[in-house]
Amino acid sequence: MPRSERIRHPALARKVVPADVAAAMIGPGATVGMSGFTGAGYPKEVPLALAQRIAAANASGARFKINVWTGASTAPELDGALAAADGIELRLPYQSDPVSREKINSGHMEYIDVHLSHVAQLVWEGFLGHLDVALIEVSGITADGQLIPSSSVGNNKTWVEQADSVILEVNSWQSADLEGMHDINYGTALPPNRRPIPLVRPGDRIGEPYLRCSPEKVVAVVETDAPDRNAGYSPPDETSRRIAGHLIEFLEHEVARGRLPAELLPVQSGVGNVANAALAELAQSRFENLTAFTEVIQDGMLSLLKTGTLSVASATAFSLSPDAVAEFNDNARDYRDRIVLRPQEISNHPELVRRLGVLAMNGVIEADIYGNVNSTHLMGSRIQNGIGGSGDFARNAYISFFVTPSTAKGGAISSIVPMVSHVDHTEHDVNVIVTEQGLADLRGLAPRRRARLLIDRCAHPDYRPLLEDYFDRALKGAFGQHTPHLLEEALSWHARYVRTGSMVPQR
Ligand code: COA
Repeated sequence: MPRSERIRHPALARKVVPADVAAAMIGPGATVGMSGFTGAGYPKEVPLALAQRIAAANASGARFKINVWTGASTAPELDGALAAADGIELRLPYQSDPVSREKINSGHMEYIDVHLSHVAQLVWEGFLGHLDVALIEVSGITADGQLIPSSSVGNNKTWVEQADSVILEVNSWQSADLEGMHDINYGTALPPNRRPIPLVRPGDRIGEPYLRCSPEKVVAVVETDAPDRNAGYSPPDETSRRIAGHLIEFLEHEVARGRLPAELLPVQSGVGNVANAALAELAQSRFENLTAFTEVIQDGMLSLLKTGTLSVASATAFSLSPDAVAEFNDNARDYRDRIVLRPQEISNHPELVRRLGVLAMNGVIEADIYGNVNSTHLMGSRIQNGIGGSGDFARNAYISFFVTPSTAKGGAISSIVPMVSHVDHTEHDVNVIVTEQGLADLRGLAPRRRARLLIDRCAHPDYRPLLEDYFDRALKGAFGQHTPHLLEEALSWHARYVRTGSMVPQR
């Protein structure tokens, strides 16, 4: 008998088993579509049990690995445990777990970094191969067998539809008041039969509150009351406050010029400390009645909802620190009418981002003097997290902002470099770059003007003369004047960092 009253469907209640029994249903070589998005709504018991089984098998000389597809990053109980057991052959899409990052960078795990809005359609189109099992956390099961999603939706609809079998984890730690917060749209189809998505405002509901799932497809149900394990955010510091200050001043200026409405346009804010802190500072601005069409609701956004600065937020998942989770769980009912959680192919849909005119704000690893952005790779080679939804939003935004401190690693690295060592967002998708030094509005500027502005406004004073020197000498180069570079020097700052631990030239 189930311990929790969250399983209201009698036949599914009879399928409750311990986690290790469910884990035994996943064999070597299986492809498993798991729930989970930025540390929210991921299965917590079965991946741990599976990791133990894999570790034991691998210790005895077997080769037991699975392929793991998720919504986005998860947490130590899933990514961390399976990676530590050397149990993942291939992982997609976004991840941010330190153990899994290490395995990817050491060549022990394959990783496909793909735009988050693309994942579901790649699976429907059959491009990614066969999906064996869907392993999905839900916050409950209705009496007629529908699934009440938990703190993320991600790709769960697609996993449940596409997999041969479904294992459910019913998590009674998740607030029961999540019921009704989700909006699962079943209208999507593949070309040539696709229809327009009938979403006109961020708060519109165009689907159903539940995930459809045939009870016969469910092979096991596991109960848990384990919490989501999100990492906390660094508190806003002077750097992030200054970044936010530049951003708010720019937005006020755009409103004054009549280029943005007083309540702005729907805001998207990316993952990471800097984007979260910049968002939190909006609470200090005079903006009101804002809306969000975004991917994750992080602490900064929840506090804007709490103060009323934000009237409604559409996303696919929460990404909350433990303190903010506690606040949300205590007041989930109050938030329910102002938050809509959708599948990620809808929350990040390029057509919707373009049509709603989203103001996209994402973090960067580095940007170059022409505005190309690297969001993912340290020194061009080592993956940090992944592109996530930043490309879904940046390419299609009304204005695409990228925010970053002007230096990293205590000043040893300049975030503004002559040439980025890896490109995620080309100069064509980057409108505004903001550091604590200032803001560069690159719209309508040809490359050489962009370079001057970016160096002048955004580079740290320690690196500004070096960038000016690089650009001045590049201008004198013989090969081309449209986007001048000194090819032998363009990546020399990175090479110097790898060699000496600093981009600053040794005297
Ligand atoms: N070179 C080397 N390391 C760098 C760096 C650079 N140019 N810039 C940042 N880093 C390191 C920081 O030192 C820090 O490392 P640590 O964890 O060892 O201290 C780490 O990267 C994170 O940097 P931080 O300044 O705290 O920024 P952040 O938390 O805002 O994250 C990104 C920045 C780019 C990593 C993050 O925004 C990201 O993963 N973006 C891609 C996905 C995305 O944009 N999704 C949004 C759609 S919702």
